[in-house]
Amino acid sequence: MSNLISSSAWQALYSHQSDIRNLKMRELFATDSSRFDKFSLQIDGLLLDYSKNLITEKTIELLINLASQSNLSDWIKRQFNGEKINTSESRAVLHTALRCPPNSTVLVDGKNVIPDVHRVLDHIRRYSNSIRSGITVGHTGKQIRHIVNIGIGGSALGPLMACEALKPFGSKDLTAHFVSNVDATDIAETLKKLDAETTLFIVSSKTFTTQETLTNAHTARAWLVKRLGSELAVAKHFAAVSTNLSETSKFGINPENVFEFWDWVGGRYSLWSAIGLPIAIYIGMENFERLLAGGHAMDEHFRNAPLEKNMPAILGLLGIWYGNFFGTGSYAILPYDQYLQHFPAYLQQLEMESNGKRVDREGNPVDYDTHFVVWGEPGTNGQHSFYQLIHQGTRMVPADFLAPLNSYNPIGEHHAMLLSNCFAQTESLMLGKTEAEARAELIAQGLTGNSLESLLPCKVFPGNRPTNTLLFNQLDPYTLGKLIALYEHKIFVQSVVWNINAFDQWGVEFGKQLANKLLPELRSEEAISTHDSSTNNLINIYRKRRIS
Ligand code: F6P
Repeated sequence: MSNLISSSAWQALYSHQSDIRNLKMRELFATDSSRFDKFSLQIDGLLLDYSKNLITEKTIELLINLASQSNLSDWIKRQFNGEKINTSESRAVLHTALRCPPNSTVLVDGKNVIPDVHRVLDHIRRYSNSIRSGITVGHTGKQIRHIVNIGIGGSALGPLMACEALKPFGSKDLTAHFVSNVDATDIAETLKKLDAETTLFIVSSKTFTTQETLTNAHTARAWLVKRLGSELAVAKHFAAVSTNLSETSKFGINPENVFEFWDWVGGRYSLWSAIGLPIAIYIGMENFERLLAGGHAMDEHFRNAPLEKNMPAILGLLGIWYGNFFGTGSYAILPYDQYLQHFPAYLQQLEMESNGKRVDREGNPVDYDTHFVVWGEPGTNGQHSFYQLIHQGTRMVPADFLAPLNSYNPIGEHHAMLLSNCFAQTESLMLGKTEAEARAELIAQGLTGNSLESLLPCKVFPGNRPTNTLLFNQLDPYTLGKLIALYEHKIFVQSVVWNINAFDQWGVEFGKQLANKLLPELRSEEAISTHDSSTNNLINIYRKRRIS
């Protein structure tokens, strides 16, 4: 049995769970009018209401004990101080340094990295201003109107999510496009929307070796050269973001348009770095800096707030409460904000690539569950699709609801309707509907006898389904920065308790190796027989039936 499972803090939570699992949240609310005050937190305008959880004050006390037993406060210091806590890659983990003010000091191997961070930010400022103002133009002298981010995973999902989330701040003269998939359809359909003379491609890849990104970048390059009739056009229409400057120069990108970042920035934590270049161009540098400031504000809160008032710690510990003590296999992210439509996909990578791990920091297989499946859709669309399972399925699915109090599109009653749905969902998930309540409703509708009795079980809702609600005024860059950093730190809290490394991704690296090995076999003249019979047949069927 692992140290974690046998620890006093874990065992105390284990027995507490059996004491309280039959409590009803509706009764906890009915008997304690201060429940919301007890179980909610505010950080300059961002509210976390976690009162609709299956918890008591004792639960929170025991979860905080678990965090203390895991030395969470020490780990937070170690991360912020630039210790190489990503041990399997021997790297510091310092996305937090990317949002530090210029007068800060953060040391990696004895060197203060903040001057480099601000040197690159200055570069982004100059370049994004010159693209937006039309000082930097395309090969034929026309102003840039389309920016196309070519990247995948952490080099795509953050900029995609943030450009969509901050559309109200986006330049009306620019359209942001994102190409990720090696499926040619992705780039082909994007190219159809573009005019080569007014398009800037940003090739974003930490390693600059990722198959999908390099393939798409070469396809885009060939398209551009063909359209503009000159190799010289590449210098004006391509920029790159990478830690691998020798590969960007081999690709032929003008060194002035190459933006660097560092190995201490993990891919999925990189939107704050030069990977955020498309965001800075699209929303402008001032707004990009507001995003960084929001992230920094959450960093300061995470470092300084006591654990019981610490928003990322509370969110992370609640996740552990359900995942490890109730056996929930997934949790849902439900933004009631269309601009946050890519937030669930962004968090899928952030959370599952970080904490989907099976060995601890010492390399021992763990004997407890680590991360759960993350999924979600914007409300109210999800209500008409999968909420049925959340309300009446056999599994408990904890969910985070996120909503702005004010809309950028204040048309009629739309926003009040949106929020009424959001609040009604969390209320009904908590309350449920008892058999007596359901019966009374059916009787009021005129049902009696067999028709009433047969319908009754379908109309009962167990309730007691946990939710968090995050409210903010409007989704501006500062607020988005806080929200993203909140989830980043929540993930770190969970990794500390689980004693796993949240900052490597060997499982994904494995996929990269496999694809490169198999590719030549698809072009082979000879039948392939070196794999298992399933894989051999799949390859050979493709070889026989491919048209081009
Ligand atoms: O998908 C795995 C991964 O390594 C991510 O962590 C990273 O964000 C993505 O690939 C892209 O890698 P790169 O930025 O090096 O092209």
